[in-house]
Amino acid sequence: MWLPKIVALSLLCSVKPSPEAFRNCGQDKQCVPYEQCNEGLYVDGKFYADRSRTTLDENCHYMEKCCNNQDTLPAPLLPQEVQNWTCGGRHDLWYYLRPLGYKQQEAKFGEFPWLTAIYSKEGYLCSGALITPVAVITTAHCVQNEKSESLRLVAGEWDAAVELEPQPHQERSVMELLLHPNYTQIPLVHNIAVILVAQDSPFCLSPNVQPICLPPPKMVYNYSQCYVSGWQRSDFGGKAILPKRWTLYALPPDQCRAKMRLSVLGRRHSHNESLLCAGGDKGDFVCGDVEMAGVPLMCPLPGHDDRFLLAGLLARPVRCDGTQLLGIYTNLQFYRQWIDLKLRERELDIRHYMV
Ligand SMILES: *[C@@H]1O[C@H](CO)[C@@H](O)[C@H](O)[C@H]1NC(C)=O
Ligand SMILES: *[C@@H]1O[C@H](CO)[C@@H](O)[C@H](O)[C@H]1NC(C)=O
Ligand SMILES: *[C@@H]1O[C@H](CO)[C@@H](O)[C@H](O)[C@H]1NC(C)=O
Ligand SMILES: *[C@@H]1O[C@H](CO)[C@@H](O)[C@H](O)[C@H]1NC(C)=O
Repeated sequence: MWLPKIVALSLLCSVKPSPEAFRNCGQDKQCVPYEQCNEGLYVDGKFYADRSRTTLDENCHYMEKCCNNQDTLPAPLLPQEVQNWTCGGRHDLWYYLRPLGYKQQEAKFGEFPWLTAIYSKEGYLCSGALITPVAVITTAHCVQNEKSESLRLVAGEWDAAVELEPQPHQERSVMELLLHPNYTQIPLVHNIAVILVAQDSPFCLSPNVQPICLPPPKMVYNYSQCYVSGWQRSDFGGKAILPKRWTLYALPPDQCRAKMRLSVLGRRHSHNESLLCAGGDKGDFVCGDVEMAGVPLMCPLPGHDDRFLLAGLLARPVRCDGTQLLGIYTNLQFYRQWIDLKLRERELDIRHYMV
């Protein structure tokens, strides 16, 4: 029976509220998240926080406003409808937060709500994508040396340096780690893993925590407006640790095969259907950066410009060709049946990522 499990999941999830102790920033004023300062506008009954900044606000973090004590609002409640949202969607765009000095190649808050940070005991490992409230997908390469007990997943995260986002991030321990059974490092093939959270502590779906859709094996989708997003290990330790974001396009399969023959796979490549190529402008991408492995490649769902499917996972360090990038990705379409099977074997609901 599928239905009772969905109901059970939504009852079990719990979100830790943000800390309530606010810092003083002037007489009878305190630093509060934008959404908690009643100095905004109400349009059709919906509150839009005032995001302009004055010199007083400079005493607060960039995610906060210096607000009169009497204008401080309680933390917003989670909208109940989130349980009904479909995969790959983004919601409440006005929530999008960005630091001052915003860079184009940084994701905004809630822009990719399935983006999940994966940590070991030593710190940040790589990024993955949430596909159900209990399942995250990443590359096998990222987690191959880890035991499930030493892993931690953080969903709904944005600035990994602070805890001031309008909706809190959610952290879970890992119950089971499933590497693809035919994954090998040399040659690097079947580079995919499913990470499962205990069924009695699922992620709680919220505006910043949503599953992404998985493409059905035969779906034809538009590769021309895709994104890659994830955190970069070298940013950890800094004052703001924001996920990076690049706009990419996938290459037609024949061009991809030709490029792969010339480079990474050599002449005897037999795993071409399991891989995708995507290119794009280099921008500030660090070529050859092994730390970006696992980051999701997300393309629009056919017929939608604001819903996404998980097309790939960065399987190898990105190469640069002049001002252009060439990335090789694990092709999710090729692994869809394996993922379905592993979840069904555990009686987990796969409808969360079905288009
Ligand atoms: C979710 O969808 C169902 C069926 O469409 C509807 O009956 C229910 O009221 C919705 N729940 C919320 C919280 O919107
Ligand atoms: C792994 O490889 C074996 C042997 O080629 C094959 O029979 C099996 O189906 C593969 N497993 C998966 C999940 O693809
Ligand atoms: C894919 O998307 C691009 C940009 O939105 C558009 O120009 C193009 O026509 C689309 N191609 C197909 C096959 O839908
Ligand atoms: C994969 O490569 C083999 C050998 O080069 C080729 O025969 C086959 O058509 C390729 N398959 C795809 C889907 O590109």
